[in-house]
Amino acid sequence: MNPNIPTPHITAGENDFARTVLMPGDPMRAKFLAEHYLENAVLVNNVRGVQGYTGTWHGKRVSVMASGMGCPSIGIYSYELFNFYNVDNIIRIGSAGALRPEIKVRDIVIGMSAYTNSGYIRAFGFTGSAAPCCSYDLLRKAMDKAEEMGIRAFAGPVFSSDMFYSDISKQENEVLARQGVLAIEMESAALYLNAARAGKNALCICTISDSLVTGEITSAEERQEGFTKMMELALSIA
Ligand code: HPA
Repeated sequence: MNPNIPTPHITAGENDFARTVLMPGDPMRAKFLAEHYLENAVLVNNVRGVQGYTGTWHGKRVSVMASGMGCPSIGIYSYELFNFYNVDNIIRIGSAGALRPEIKVRDIVIGMSAYTNSGYIRAFGFTGSAAPCCSYDLLRKAMDKAEEMGIRAFAGPVFSSDMFYSDISKQENEVLARQGVLAIEMESAALYLNAARAGKNALCICTISDSLVTGEITSAEERQEGFTKMMELALSIA
């Protein structure tokens, strides 16, 4: 028996999660993925409506559970999955805003590294700036699969912001774009730091839902289609 489970945020049993968990921000996307892709999906968590499911995809056991929004939220769920539920791989499947002109809505951006304004690194006792980084193995697999599937995917730095609304975001976004940062989202930095500390693997795959360069946004239908493509990519490397 593992004395750490159930955790304050997850009531699943010890072996209820697969070794790989796909993690959208939105619980409804987790439900969609479980219902449309997984065979024999079983609901293993529903604390706070954060739905977690485990099933199989092409014979492989896979889980999906939402992260909520922002570094504190994904920080809690990924910490508990890596450290208490023996999960080895977490693949975030989220949305992001494009910071650079070559990144268009519906493209896929894969976060090799995550710039951040989050204080999450302070959880680990390091006083400097961090360089949160994805799993090379998952990145390589994702880029190979994307090419095979004919998906336009860009790998590079993303920015995990603590603020969706901010007085200085425009200036900050321009500085980041000049540094080659591809897109803005809100979770990768905490996920990558937790994976590093636990000796586990993480990757963030994002569909571009809006462009902060051109102001273009996707319709709900396009977002759904983009998410479907991304889910298939993530499942293929799970
Ligand atoms: N900011 C943060 N996260 C996001 C955005 C954004 O503009 N677009 C999609 N996810």
